[in-house]
Amino acid sequence: MKAVALTRYLPISDPESLMDVELHKPVATGRDLLVMIHAIAVNPVDTKVRKPKDKLEITPKILGWDAAGEVVEAGPDCTLFKTGDKVFYAGDITRSGCNAEYQLIDERIVGHMPQSLSFEQAAALPLTAVTAWESLFDRLGIALDIAQNRNKNLLIIGGAGGVGSIAIQLANKLAGLTVVATASRPETVRWVQELGAQYVINHKHDLVTQMREIGIPQPDYIFCCNDTDGYFSVMAELIKPQGKICSIVETAQPVDLNLLKNKSATFAWELMFTRSMFQTADMTEQHLILDRIANLVDEGVLKTTLNETLSPINATNLRKAHAQLEAGGTIGKIVLSVWA
Ligand SMILES: NC(=O)c1ccc[n+]([C@@H]2O[C@H](COP(=O)([O-])OP(=O)(O)OC[C@H]3O[C@@H](n4cnc5c(N)ncnc54)[C@H](OP(=O)(O)O)[C@@H]3O)[C@@H](O)[C@H]2O)c1
Repeated sequence: MKAVALTRYLPISDPESLMDVELHKPVATGRDLLVMIHAIAVNPVDTKVRKPKDKLEITPKILGWDAAGEVVEAGPDCTLFKTGDKVFYAGDITRSGCNAEYQLIDERIVGHMPQSLSFEQAAALPLTAVTAWESLFDRLGIALDIAQNRNKNLLIIGGAGGVGSIAIQLANKLAGLTVVATASRPETVRWVQELGAQYVINHKHDLVTQMREIGIPQPDYIFCCNDTDGYFSVMAELIKPQGKICSIVETAQPVDLNLLKNKSATFAWELMFTRSMFQTADMTEQHLILDRIANLVDEGVLKTTLNETLSPINATNLRKAHAQLEAGGTIGKIVLSVWA
């Protein structure tokens, strides 16, 4: 099968940072599905894993954790899917990724693809949707009940990125929260407004002043999708007493949790890969989340966050997509489709 892989960890400008390779097609066992991949999305995790370092892979390493495709083989213990099902999923960071024509994936973290979407539109969603869902509803404990959230609000730092784009929709349309999103350019401001953010403030200017100006000086919840180091003290200053903060971005330095003590504020981490990495007893939750996302898309509640498609899927286009992500200004999602 065709795949895009690396053996050395090089800057993305190097043609050998991601290469076209031919590998054996794997075989499904246990609860694994073998999926024929039609479209993939790129995420910052891909560029973080690929980050230049002095390490050599003996066998080519396949990255990529966002895919849409078709089940071509189901392992003997599979109960949730059958051959021919169209699926979408993010995957497991401890296993080989989706930048390949075929991938093995545990059915407990796979969802049925929305019927109303193309493979490209569907591939844009899984990783960011699972991250946003787990952040809002599992980590921040936001009620999935519009009536309960009537006077509550959420600040999303980094609103126009892949995760922010789906978090805005979930928070606003499903939970009924008032959403403040940050965006710094006219095109990202427009994008977050179209997705349902009621207020937009600029992360290049002082957040405390801007939150006061819009009449939400102390948000109930803060969801941090960028630079936790840089935003930690301002989040501590802003958060409502007894409020909750969730971040999805690792810090380079330890953060000062004492800043949250007087307010009895909660800080929670979210890592989308936790359930699969530790094979948690509730791992099937990701299957259920993706199926719920698919239904919400088909009902017209949520829309895809696809913003750009590159074709075919090959090393040249994947290097282009990684370079765009590394530049830091992505709006929504970049997807690659069709193996040449
Ligand atoms: N823990 C997890 O499970 C998990 C899951 C997914 C992602 N992540 C991490 O979350 C981060 C965001 O991922 P993503 O896919 O949403 O990224 P992304 O799509 O690359 O985000 C791009 C957006 O970031 C905004 N941005 C740039 N600089 C910013 C700043 N200083 N402050 C606030 N926003 C800024 C930009 O908005 P403007 O153009 O308007 O400036 C742009 O729209 C990444 O670090 C990723 O690795 C973690």
